[in-house]
Amino acid sequence: MAIWLITGASRGLGRYLSREMARRGHTVIAAARDSGLLATLANESSNGHIVPLPLDLADSAAIRPAIDRALLDHGPIDGLINNAAIGDYRPFLEHREDELLTLVQVNIAAVMQLCLALLPHFLQRGAGHIVNIGSDLARRPLANMAPYVASKHALLGFSHSLLREVKDRGVRVNLINPGIIDTDFGGASEGSRPAHASLQPREFARLIADLIEGQLGHLVVDELIVHALGQDY
Ligand SMILES: NC(=O)c1ccc[n+]([C@@H]2O[C@H](COP(=O)([O-])OP(=O)(O)OC[C@H]3O[C@@H](n4cnc5c(N)ncnc54)[C@H](OP(=O)(O)O)[C@@H]3O)[C@@H](O)[C@H]2O)c1
Repeated sequence: MAIWLITGASRGLGRYLSREMARRGHTVIAAARDSGLLATLANESSNGHIVPLPLDLADSAAIRPAIDRALLDHGPIDGLINNAAIGDYRPFLEHREDELLTLVQVNIAAVMQLCLALLPHFLQRGAGHIVNIGSDLARRPLANMAPYVASKHALLGFSHSLLREVKDRGVRVNLINPGIIDTDFGGASEGSRPAHASLQPREFARLIADLIEGQLGHLVVDELIVHALGQDY
């Protein structure tokens, strides 16, 4: 059983991932901005396996102190799931500059900051696991989502490159690139998408947890692309 830091844990895929990892006996440090939703999530897990970490990833200066605090409070963290991201479907020119900078901060800079904070501990112990949740848009273009698509392309380059840097020292870096997931993402609402054409977050979280627990010995999953059978892509 391990201690996992999961970002974007208050809603969507991150909430299901937190529940699933806790159900399997792991301790989850659940990070997001909405402390009310995090408290509800933590209360659900009667075994105390989910602990809330209120954190705004758009606030770059808040990230390192939050991780240092979590390490002090909970001891060594074994794994990091970079799941939080923002994005919506809008022509590029309709974005304000501050919105673009926030997207880059949350979707890619914060991922690097979290890795920077935790990797030294992983390397020191010769073990650690980073799971980056990307998108199938990491490998293709989409009009009206340029900033989001750019951030996921960046995450792809970062994940594969970091893996090559640390894999011989006991640290895994996985990139999981999903198609459409039935969540609130980008102004949608969970439950509103056709089940055959979108990944159901509960099932998908189970697959990710299986993937995490199934990487034994010297095995590593560099990248995994996952779609619902009914999604056109
Ligand atoms: N949904 C899809 O169709 C889809 C498709 C492909 C890939 N993905 C990827 O899957 C991952 C999960 O997405 P989802 O669909 O579960 O999204 P979601 O339902 O919108 O949830 C996003 C999560 O990120 C957190 N978050 C947003 N801004 C944050 C900030 N500034 N600081 C800290 N946390 C923040 C939110 O919590 P708070 O609001 O409480 O902060 C929330 O818990 C993302 O990486 C997304 O890019 C999604």
